[in-house]
Amino acid sequence: MRANSFLIYNRAMPEFHALVPAAGYGARMGHELPKQYLPLAGQPLIFHALNTLCASPEIATVFVVLAPDDALFHTYEWPHFGDKLQPLYCGGATRAESVANGLLASELEPDDWVLVHDAARPCLTQAHVARLIAELRDDEVGGILAVPVADTLKRADDQGRIARTEDRAGLWQAQTPQMFRAGLLAQALRQCGNVTDEASAIEALGLRPRLVLGESTNFKVTYPQDLLLAELLLGQKGK
Ligand code: C5P
Repeated sequence: MRANSFLIYNRAMPEFHALVPAAGYGARMGHELPKQYLPLAGQPLIFHALNTLCASPEIATVFVVLAPDDALFHTYEWPHFGDKLQPLYCGGATRAESVANGLLASELEPDDWVLVHDAARPCLTQAHVARLIAELRDDEVGGILAVPVADTLKRADDQGRIARTEDRAGLWQAQTPQMFRAGLLAQALRQCGNVTDEASAIEALGLRPRLVLGESTNFKVTYPQDLLLAELLLGQKGK
């Protein structure tokens, strides 16, 4: 990739931090309780991702970005996370705004790596985190966990009929964590409009994030039936 003026790093030993946007309401779950607090395997849904990230020996801090009026987070016990878990009450109107606000409030060094992970992906494992960090720690740009698209893709017309079949060759499904330098990501999010993931903001700068092979088990809980699948997978984890 061509040399780029965005990519000048000075710190000899950048740190790794995680940032979990959790200021959404999860309207598609059709529940009054925000998605991140729905019960899953005996804990609020967000617990599972925080548990994995806090247990990672490579991650120094786990910032969780909450809505300014969040009245639930402090009502739960976060037993063994200690000071590694840092709630920030600065969520915005969109996911991108929540991440941008969280980066500002976290006061990370521009060279530090930040792993942004959806609160709604509870089946993240240590192996996923370790692979992402190992593959990207010497990368100029950073990248994301993703999986190649497995299904045949149909484009719908406005009557719910198939307009055409899309070519799936070379298509990947983006997951999280998405790992970028804190300074670069903050700049990218400032410059772009509303994007649905961090990589899109980095791409808008003309950079090309790496795709790191993840697993389909790291899916995002979006619809009520996803909770059952997540519960089954989390039940397997301890076995
Ligand atoms: O709604 P969706 O599942 O796409 O949200 C992805 C992640 O972004 C969730 O963890 C959600 O809480 C977070 N989010 C946020 N601020 C918003 C909207 C979503 O932190 N305004």
